[in-house]
Amino acid sequence: MRELLTRSKVELPGAERPRRLRASAALRALVRETRVDPAQLIAPLFVVSGQGRREEIASLKGHARLSPDRALAEAEKLAKLGVGGLLLFGIPEAKDDRGEAAADPNGPVAETLRLLRREGLPLALAADVCLCEYTTHGHCGILDGERVDNDATLPLLAEAAVAYAQAGADLVAPSAMMDGQVAALRSGLDAAGHTETAIMAYASKHASAFYGPFREAAGSTPSFGDRKAYQMDSANGREALREMELDAEEGADILMVKPAITSLDLLALARQRFDLPLAAYQVSGEAAMIEAAAERGWIDRRKVVQESLTAIVRAGATVVMTYFAADAASWLRETI
Ligand code: PBG
Repeated sequence: MRELLTRSKVELPGAERPRRLRASAALRALVRETRVDPAQLIAPLFVVSGQGRREEIASLKGHARLSPDRALAEAEKLAKLGVGGLLLFGIPEAKDDRGEAAADPNGPVAETLRLLRREGLPLALAADVCLCEYTTHGHCGILDGERVDNDATLPLLAEAAVAYAQAGADLVAPSAMMDGQVAALRSGLDAAGHTETAIMAYASKHASAFYGPFREAAGSTPSFGDRKAYQMDSANGREALREMELDAEEGADILMVKPAITSLDLLALARQRFDLPLAAYQVSGEAAMIEAAAERGWIDRRKVVQESLTAIVRAGATVVMTYFAADAASWLRETI
């Protein structure tokens, strides 16, 4: 080693100089392998009933619970920026133990979908399908004692999906982690004549502490226990691939992993194994960490957002759900 350091000239074979292509911005752009396009970003949107309502969400900077009219204004802004789509989450006026309001054709999600559909915005409209925002106990399905009853929950999820398809959703996104939920939605949708409505399945969804800020936004923190009996153990990768396999067999059109930052290995493996489009959800806790560190001046918000989205796409995601969709899209437009 010492000998090497003192030698005046080191002979490197030509192929050992990858720095050649890093010498200028133009060269780096020329050989860049991954580019994020605003059209592949989906912005999550929280909706409530009423008119002119905008309630800031403390845990999700820049995000608010919006009434349908305000959601429309937000959607117009996102469409202008070239964002690909929206993912709607509803917060109902009243909850019950069966989460019946999830399938209410006059609930905030259905109402917003009808309004957006009528405007004909160039956005893909997705609706999250789960009961946790709609149940008094905050679990993702209906209870049998303290246990979530898988099979009794399936028809309720299917009914909600049909209501959203009826209201104009292009995609329904089941996130309850009930076994068979994709098959239940597909057969429910088909029976109701919605053969064209696509299913973006939360296929690999880990029981994660990164969902904390979302639960505050949606008021969906479980009133007892946790979600570990239905969401996956975050230590499991092979099980995640099996979940994806099952959802693909049940008729999923897009397979999603979540959280994104803890699932990059799964995206890379899934990219090899499946030919379906893959999606990743950069969840609320991931966004909150970036916002909090940026607020303290510890990281550069814009650069970290761009780097994280690029890594998610590099790992294999075609579609990315991100709370930074609007900012990222406007930055991407600046650099074109
Ligand atoms: C509903 C649902 C959750 C998220 C997406 N759909 C919450 C949960 O599972 O507790 C999390 C999204 C986020 O953290 O941004 N089941």
